[in-house]
Amino acid sequence: MIVISKEEAKELMTASETIELMKETLMDFNLGKSEMSLRMNNQLSDGNFYLLMPAYLKEKQYFGVKLISIFPTNHGKGLPSHQGVVLLFSAEDGQEKAVVDCVEVTALRTAAVSAVATDLLSRKDAKVMGFMGAGVQARHHVEALLEVRDIEEILVWDLYEKSANNFAEEMSEKHNMKVTVCKTQEELVGSSDIITTVSLAKEPILKGEWVKPGTHINAIGASAKAYREMDSLVVQKSKFYVDKRESCLGESSDFLVPLSEGLITEDHIYAELGDVLLGKTNGRESDDEITMFEGMGLAVEDIATASFIYEKKLKQMESK
Ligand SMILES: NC(=O)c1ccc[n+]([C@@H]2O[C@H](COP(=O)([O-])OP(=O)(O)OC[C@H]3O[C@@H](n4cnc5c(N)ncnc54)[C@H](O)[C@@H]3O)[C@@H](O)[C@H]2O)c1
Repeated sequence: MIVISKEEAKELMTASETIELMKETLMDFNLGKSEMSLRMNNQLSDGNFYLLMPAYLKEKQYFGVKLISIFPTNHGKGLPSHQGVVLLFSAEDGQEKAVVDCVEVTALRTAAVSAVATDLLSRKDAKVMGFMGAGVQARHHVEALLEVRDIEEILVWDLYEKSANNFAEEMSEKHNMKVTVCKTQEELVGSSDIITTVSLAKEPILKGEWVKPGTHINAIGASAKAYREMDSLVVQKSKFYVDKRESCLGESSDFLVPLSEGLITEDHIYAELGDVLLGKTNGRESDDEITMFEGMGLAVEDIATASFIYEKKLKQMESK
């Protein structure tokens, strides 16, 4: 069995490779070529929790589980909020194959899925992308989204101004691009063509009254029930896409709150991304519609990413 660290995982897989893999993974899942049960969310003290996420890739012959801890209380302690591993097994003989640090796996696959959504749903002429939340996910999302749109400016807002300033400095240098820190959420939302929310907010940070027509939103941060980033109006106004319908209905407060308020019905979920990729339904249809992708994160994405990294590592070892 091989152990693959976060640093090694980073070296072994690029954003563009992950985007292609995620397209295939989402289509495979909707074609029944992989299986996944809903994840287990286990509460710890002080609002911290851990998730157990199993999946089986039938064609690729891997199964495995991601065990990830989410500690919002790590803020300011110099520790990441997300830590954990993917345990990868062969589905041919049941052998354990690898333990892969899941920080890079999670960041790569989440950003890549958002890039797939952004490519299908945002306007082709989008020039400004805004980030609400300026942590690990935001950094990976910049890299992945730049693969699918010709962006001229990045905006950022974070609850902690220092986090936003650090992000702006780092990203402008890394991508040689203008990165502006917004003082208010409203300023960011009203000026962005593509908005990605990747915060740890428990109350809405994005309001429907601020969003201009034609905007695409990747709603990524609120992937457990205790979290919420979207107000009810913006969900109601959006053409609403998900990674998996059951995950959204089970865990997304962004969706479940307006549902409980009677503002939307379950039919408000327009489509799963996999079905758009398969051509079974539409992506963006006009320049004016507001589109939203609510990404809850799927175990099949983690196992596919970990198996790609594992196979690359094997090749690297064989060539030495
Ligand atoms: N949907 C998915 O597939 C998926 C995958 C991974 C992470 N996530 C979620 O995305 C979010 C971001 O993850 P990360 O790894 O970047 O975390 P992180 O800790 O690296 O960054 C979080 C950022 O949010 C900021 N923040 C905290 N509270 C805030 C608030 N109330 N309002 C605005 N900003 C706030 C922090 O200052 C920090 O910059 C988390 O909620 C995480 O659980 C979702």
